[in-house]
Amino acid sequence: MDINHKFSRKKLKRKKENGNYGDLEVVFFKIGRKTKNQNQNQNQNQNQNQNQNQNLNQNQNQNQNQNQNQNQYQNQNQNQNQNQNQNQNQNQNKNQNQNQNQNQNQNQNQYKNQNQYKNQNKNQYKNQNQNQNQNKNKNQNQNLNQNQNQNKNQNQNLNKNQNQNQYQNQNQINIFNKFQEKLKGSRFRWINEKFYKTTGDEAQKMFQKDENLFHIYHEGFKSQVKKWKENPLDKIIQSLQKYPKNWIIGDFGCGDAKIAQSLKHKVYSFDLIPTNKYVTACNISHVPLKDNSINVAVFSLSLMGINFFDYLFEAYRVLSSNGILKIAEVKSRIKDIKKFIKAIEKIGFKFSSLDETNKMFVLIDFQIPQNKKPLISKKDQDQLKNSIKLKPCEYKKR
Ligand SMILES: C[S@@+](CC[C@H](N)C(=O)[O-])C[C@H]1O[C@@H](n2cnc3c(N)ncnc32)[C@H](O)[C@@H]1O
Repeated sequence: MDINHKFSRKKLKRKKENGNYGDLEVVFFKIGRKTKNQNQNQNQNQNQNQNQNQNLNQNQNQNQNQNQNQNQYQNQNQNQNQNQNQNQNQNQNKNQNQNQNQNQNQNQNQYKNQNQYKNQNKNQYKNQNQNQNQNKNKNQNQNLNQNQNQNKNQNQNLNKNQNQNQYQNQNQINIFNKFQEKLKGSRFRWINEKFYKTTGDEAQKMFQKDENLFHIYHEGFKSQVKKWKENPLDKIIQSLQKYPKNWIIGDFGCGDAKIAQSLKHKVYSFDLIPTNKYVTACNISHVPLKDNSINVAVFSLSLMGINFFDYLFEAYRVLSSNGILKIAEVKSRIKDIKKFIKAIEKIGFKFSSLDETNKMFVLIDFQIPQNKKPLISKKDQDQLKNSIKLKPCEYKKR
């Protein structure tokens, strides 16, 4: 019921109460008509509504169907979409896989590239290192060359210094040698002088005390002999070779015993100090030989002591009859050669020959007669000793 209808009912109620219908009746009538119409309309409307509702329902159903269809379609579409999506997904997956593969490949390539890069870097590094090493080697070689040059220079300097030092050393050695030679020479001259100014016994004592003096003397003597044009000993050896091979020779004051080493004869070699196996050490004033036991007695430059007559007396003792005495002496030592020969003859020797061909030396030979006499008395010996003196042999300073 609408408002107007409620209103008219209220109006009617009041009219009833008030007993007055008039216009209200008309209104009421009208309203009633209207209401009827309205009801009819309402019914119509209701029908219409119903129809409409039916239609609506139909529509709704249709719609529903449509919707269902639509839904189905939608579902289909959805399915299609889903499928599509799935396909898409699959494709996407494929793509993803492809991408992944690509990525992997890319990664691999990247890795490869990285490795290549690394290798390149390594190679570059190696090359750099090689270059650096080459440079280092170059530098080292340069340094080596420099060092070699320096060493060469140093060696050259060293050689120069060495040469200078060698030269200086050689000079020093030469000076030292000269000094030594001079010293030896002066020592030789000193010993030689002693020899000529003393007896054989004293000389023997001197050398026994210091054998080195004997060797100094002999070195000096040998160096003097080298300066001689002719050695009287060689002449004596030459003459001895003619004698019978069974003859026995005595070398008094033999030095190095050159006679014994040069001849096949039996040779007794005597000297104060033995310098080799041929030498018998003794003072030639007392030799270890029996009387009349040898055929030749040689005094080559050995009548040195002031008691040289004692050496000749001893020779006479050991020489047999027809025995030969050979004397080689420095000319300058003998003041009067004839007087000297006569004095020797007083011992019991007979003069044989004199060789004065050499400027420096004389060679005198004597022989004991067949009937050899006994040695002169002690008294006659002393007289002889005092009758003749030999000068010392002095070697000049050089
Ligand atoms: C100048 S040298 C000659 C050496 C050798 N007869 C010669 O002609 O080559 C003299 C030698 O006589 C020796 N002499 C001098 N007096 C001597 C003595 N009383 N006893 C032994 N030998 C002596 C010396 O020792 C020295 O060897």
